[in-house]
Amino acid sequence: MKGIILAGGLGTRLYPLTKVTNKHLLPIHSKPMIYYPLQTLVDAGIENILIVTGGNHAGEFLRLLGNGSEFGLKHLNYTYQEGEGGIAAALDLAEHFADGDKVVVMLGDNIIEKSIKKAVTNFRRQAAGARILIKEVTDPERFGAVEIKNKKIISIEEKPKRPKSNCVVTGIYMYDNQVFDIIKLLKPSRRNELEITDVNNAYLKKGELQYEILDGWWSDSGTFDSLLRANNLVAEMRDEKGKGKG
Ligand code: DAU
Repeated sequence: MKGIILAGGLGTRLYPLTKVTNKHLLPIHSKPMIYYPLQTLVDAGIENILIVTGGNHAGEFLRLLGNGSEFGLKHLNYTYQEGEGGIAAALDLAEHFADGDKVVVMLGDNIIEKSIKKAVTNFRRQAAGARILIKEVTDPERFGAVEIKNKKIISIEEKPKRPKSNCVVTGIYMYDNQVFDIIKLLKPSRRNELEITDVNNAYLKKGELQYEILDGWWSDSGTFDSLLRANNLVAEMRDEKGKGKG
């Protein structure tokens, strides 16, 4: 199993914070944002990791993370996304890295409380297809919103005006190697991006999309409000664990 962190995009929703740096280098409490998804993958037992980044500050990732020794890694892989073609376009750049293996993909601005080790183990055992982690939120219109009936996913809609439920797809996705063929067939959405929701819907159509509910709190950090929320959640967690240990 290989890990991929998507940290491209221009972060325009956070302007002017992202005018002179990449969103994923901004602080979440005491660490740069990118540290959190990287730690999540490492804690799940994934050691072969690719970071997809882009924009004007891509070199800073190398300066910050190097070969990942701070995370106990021997090596980190990097690739560069030109422009902002969408999450699925960023993932497509990882095809050579995946090299036929299953992948765990995490969005670089997603911060979570607990481990995803169990979900990754379940995906290792899954014969084929995809596995997503979902979560109930109060603002589903901001995300890929999921409709579930009799414990089965019926549909996923990207940022719908009227979401069919409060459940949304978090930025943690597990795919088999079919994902790269699926991406090649995608058409750009109304916001002119290759959408990860279209990838998930393609797996759903084939009857190969599994899901689990993510344990613990979850936040993205791509807007001013969610960036503040992520900071506060990490601060609270550290307070609970005792200062300095979080
Ligand atoms: O956080 C979960 C949500 O993430 C999902 O529920 C949505 O279905 C999914 O579309 C996504 O929504 P956002 O609109 O919040 O995604 P955003 O454009 O903020 O991108 C999230 C991360 O993906 C970003 O931190 C870096 C990476 N990304 C994004 C784009 C557009 C790239 O690497 N390249 C890109 O071109």
